[in-house]
Amino acid sequence: MRFDTIVKGGHVVTPRGTSVTDIGISGEKIAAIGPDLESSPETKIIDASGHHVIPGVLDVHVHLELPFMGAVSADDYRTGTRAGARGGVTTLIDFAIPYAGDSLNDAADKWMARAEGKAMIDYTFHICITRYNEHKDQIKGMVDRGFTTFKEFMIYESEGWQSDDRALFGTLEKMKEYDTMLLVHAESSRVLDELIERHHTPELMKKYGARLHRMTRPNFIEAEAIQRAVTWSEVTGGQLYIVHMSTAQGTDIVEAAQARGVPVLAETCAQYLVLNDDVFDREDGHLFACCPQLKKPEDSERLWQGLRSGEVSVISTDTCTFTREQKAMWNGDWTKIPMGMPGLETLLPIAYTHGVLKNRLTLEEMCMKLSTNPAKIMGLYPRKGAIEVGADADMAIIHPKTTMTVDHETMETNADWSPFAGWDLAGFSRTTLSRGEVIVDDYKVVGKEGRGQWLPRTSAGLQ
Ligand code: URP
Ligand code: ZN
Ligand code: ZN
Repeated sequence: MRFDTIVKGGHVVTPRGTSVTDIGISGEKIAAIGPDLESSPETKIIDASGHHVIPGVLDVHVHLELPFMGAVSADDYRTGTRAGARGGVTTLIDFAIPYAGDSLNDAADKWMARAEGKAMIDYTFHICITRYNEHKDQIKGMVDRGFTTFKEFMIYESEGWQSDDRALFGTLEKMKEYDTMLLVHAESSRVLDELIERHHTPELMKKYGARLHRMTRPNFIEAEAIQRAVTWSEVTGGQLYIVHMSTAQGTDIVEAAQARGVPVLAETCAQYLVLNDDVFDREDGHLFACCPQLKKPEDSERLWQGLRSGEVSVISTDTCTFTREQKAMWNGDWTKIPMGMPGLETLLPIAYTHGVLKNRLTLEEMCMKLSTNPAKIMGLYPRKGAIEVGADADMAIIHPKTTMTVDHETMETNADWSPFAGWDLAGFSRTTLSRGEVIVDDYKVVGKEGRGQWLPRTSAGLQ
């Protein structure tokens, strides 16, 4: 067999086991895996000795160029996908959100236009249902167009995105009918509104500043909403996926539901695993405002445990970058801080350094949570998600120990800060391959903008 590229002598993680071996690539696909693959004079050799070769990461929760809270998130498809590539991410899934009057098709068209000509890595979108009455009869058309994952938000009334129980229930019925999946942002909106209103006084804002984030979002805000969404999944049989789960209580609810056969899956994000709400005591604590809020160290520990025992299937980022200037819009009122943080570039380094190197996850478990599970759950497997013959040749080559200090000045993201600034992290990608093409070489992004492709899908969930 003739190979265009051979990745040679790396410690390769595959679903069949991990070993020191070669990977032969023909065109965009993995053509062979085995020791001492034969090269021809034209074959490009990538030396991976002394390195882990892992499947390209799928970040399935990303917002690029998102209009939100009076600002537009600062990473677009150019900087966002460059950041992803540097972090070993080869596929991302964003959320196409219909704004005033938009149909689901309009939302998909708008997000397609944002990505085209800019994306360096492959992508698709979850389709957000923001006006159930209007959108419910458009869902089937979107499935036929190649979108199999939908999203509803239980909060964000002021953005015009909120779904009520009727919408959740009805959409989950449709997910069951079409074999598709509903992603849900689960927070209890009315109680949250009440807690925010009680604290929204000049005196309390002066006294507590950004600490009001943690004071107004106790864990039951997430747990109650997860419980309710789980109920609608249980009675309809519709596949549910809880996004950005941040609490121990939410994890317990998902575990119990899965044990009685409810079709519910859950993701957490890197920030909920390694940061906690002490950050709001910092001078620049407002920068860390995201939604849901960062919680306590015990929540992080429960999420790590959930990743190990299986009730948490995926680690993503919820990348939604806002610069210092954008965050400064808060002017002392915590309800006005654009919520979200950069994350694409640091997902793999955080999971590797704080998961694998701290013995919380094995290397193989990390690859399941960052690549194989997300690909399977989002309907992209076997094309994406594993180093296997026939799959797209998407992979990251990382050094087991070499660390880099996180500094926004040397990063690809448009953020002028990082939640992990000054942290020494291993796991940045020395070489990233996307469909057989080197897009990161010697830790530098070398891929072409606009080479990323939209990924149509026909399935979702773990049926
Ligand atoms: O803080 C966040 N997560 N911003 C983006 C919107 C969302 O809820 O995912
Ligand atoms: Zn959300
Ligand atoms: Zn999000």
